Amino acid sequence: MIDKNLIASRFLKSFSTYDDNAFIQNIMASNLIKFIPIKVFNSIFEVGCGTGILTKYIKTFFSYKNYTANDIVENSQKYVQKIIKNSDFICGDIEQVKINKKFDIIISNACLQWCNNLDSIILKLLNLLNINGFLAFSIFGQSNCYEIKKLLNISLNYTNIKEILNNLDNCKIVYIGEEIKKFFFDSPIDIIKHFKLTGVNSITNIKFTKNKLKVFEKNYKKFFVEKNKCYITYNPVYVVLKKNK
Ligand SMILES: C[S@@+](CC[C@H](N)C(=O)[O-])C[C@H]1O[C@@H](n2cnc3c(N)ncnc32)[C@H](O)[C@@H]1O
Repeated sequence: MIDKNLIASRFLKSFSTYDDNAFIQNIMASNLIKFIPIKVFNSIFEVGCGTGILTKYIKTFFSYKNYTANDIVENSQKYVQKIIKNSDFICGDIEQVKINKKFDIIISNACLQWCNNLDSIILKLLNLLNINGFLAFSIFGQSNCYEIKKLLNISLNYTNIKEILNNLDNCKIVYIGEEIKKFFFDSPIDIIKHFKLTGVNSITNIKFTKNKLKVFEKNYKKFFVEKNKCYITYNPVYVVLKKNK
């Protein structure tokens, strides 16, 4: 089970450094909006808006009348309302909060992998859409950060999205795609720091002993180095669904 208190506190701590370090999340946000065929909506609901990286893209490329944003971190409201002044904010765990509005598009960048049950959150979000509404999200796939899984056996439970989508009967798949992106760092420690600066360390409360850190560094340099740089692999997945009943 994912520890939601840990997520909220780690992301809150990372907010001041997030935008300068969230390279992959930024790429994902700019890609995600390209896969949505319509850019004019009455109502938009953004899930897990954080510091508003995706919000800025939506503000630039979409037109809308009503904007509602959500995050488990309350402080996120300040960031989003700086970008979209008259937006509404629903604070809370998207798996738990009750929402009694419907929207024309629900959009979420690099957030839903933090949910315990992806099947039910997709159903919940589809239920919050008007007919012909879109659910568009980016998430991480099964090869994400496999270096960390291999060396430390730490990983989120990355679900096979295609399997989930095959079981949905009230929507059509408008787009599904994935990519593999490697980012290079001077050392394994820089990779761990990079996780911390973007809140991705919310996954576990692990503390490195000196010895554990040494072994980790040694193995990282042995297995995951190219041209003298250590790399980490990201596996973004993009999904756009259109609700048809
Ligand atoms: C990697 S950040 C992405 C932020 C933003 N979407 C972006 O494009 O940069 C993930 C965000 O999801 C939020 N989050 C994680 N789990 C959540 C949940 N269960 N409900 C609502 N927000 C959640 C975190 O607080 C964080 O702000």
